[in-house]
Amino acid sequence: MNKIKVGVIGCGGIANGKHLPAIKRNGNMKIVAFCDIIKERAEKAKKEYGTSDARVYTDYKELVKEKDIQAVYVLTPNKSHAYISIAAMEAGKHVMCEKPMAKTYEDAKKMVETAKKTGKILTIGYQNRFRADSGYLKRVCENGELGEVYYAKAHAIRRRAVPTWGVFLNEEEQGGGPLIDIGTHALDLTLWMMNNYEPEVVMGSVYRKLADQTETGNAFGEWDPKEFTVEDSAFGFIKMKNGATINLEASWALNTLDVDEAKTTLCGTKAGADMKDGLRINGVKYNKQYVEKPDLNSGGVAFYEGESEKAEDIEQKVFYEAITKGKELVVKPEQALVVTQILEAIYESGRTGKPVYFN
Ligand SMILES: NC(=O)c1ccc[n+]([C@@H]2O[C@H](COP(=O)([O-])OP(=O)(O)OC[C@H]3O[C@@H](n4cnc5c(N)ncnc54)[C@H](O)[C@@H]3O)[C@@H](O)[C@H]2O)c1
Repeated sequence: MNKIKVGVIGCGGIANGKHLPAIKRNGNMKIVAFCDIIKERAEKAKKEYGTSDARVYTDYKELVKEKDIQAVYVLTPNKSHAYISIAAMEAGKHVMCEKPMAKTYEDAKKMVETAKKTGKILTIGYQNRFRADSGYLKRVCENGELGEVYYAKAHAIRRRAVPTWGVFLNEEEQGGGPLIDIGTHALDLTLWMMNNYEPEVVMGSVYRKLADQTETGNAFGEWDPKEFTVEDSAFGFIKMKNGATINLEASWALNTLDVDEAKTTLCGTKAGADMKDGLRINGVKYNKQYVEKPDLNSGGVAFYEGESEKAEDIEQKVFYEAITKGKELVVKPEQALVVTQILEAIYESGRTGKPVYFN
């Protein structure tokens, strides 16, 4: 196998939870450089995932200068996604950048333009597209089995799971709270299934209602209200140019039992689908309503439970094959750009109380 040499920038939660283990499992890349502004994190990652000759940096600019590196993983807080990715592409590297693509539409647009200008591959870490249920539903959609999808919901709702590590509560670092953090996954999944990237108008409501409370029962421990400078929930009503409607719900803390994350509900003229209890396809056949639940594990055989390939392993393989074999990306930067554009419009509408129209 043609192992390609890569550098990892940002050695925190998502690096250690997703990309570094996936790179190790797939074995198709060699990590030759690790960078984190906290040097110990880069050193620890090198120890676990690198070879003894791997280099450690605290400045991404030094890493992207290195001639032998073909691709870079940008796994830092949202604020730096755009400028690090752009610097990496301009230095001739392909880029896997974590979600959300950028804090602003302007920044995301510059990323897309740089990818075009340099001819480098740019993709965004929307690994939920690679889940077994998502892959199956995408094929259902592509086959036209749902008909015209004219109503959809993008679900990103937690009761009390505010991330209390890193800089997630910091507006300046992240550009927002649950909407940009987890709403981005749900919206990406929904637009991809609908294959519809043409928004017409967006209305948004953005709230900071529970952030000052204490004894919160939060899954990740108590947060500090003083540090909580982002919203705790946000809701968007998105009308597409073809008349379709999407409701986007995003929250880290909401008084509801209706919790769902990185999921979509689609309602079409022929059938519908949701991910609320595994993947379910609903419709009417022979004058009767039906619900289908595909078995996505293909298990049920003695001593064989069946297992789907991990989403992050497929994500990593797709990136590798785009670089080495010129295969088509699944998460295209132009698609992530529209996600960013809609999220920004929801924030703007929440601030102004007015709808945001797109040309
Ligand atoms: N795909 C997913 O489902 C998913 C899940 C979690 C996080 N993320 C994304 O990953 C990114 C990082 O989140 P995290 O949970 O790993 O945060 P984290 O705080 O755990 O890790 C970020 C790391 O980046 C380092 N860093 C910050 N600025 C840097 C810079 N300029 N150069 C080099 N290193 C820098 C920090 O020191 C830290 O170690 C965020 O954009 C987040 O949205 C994606």
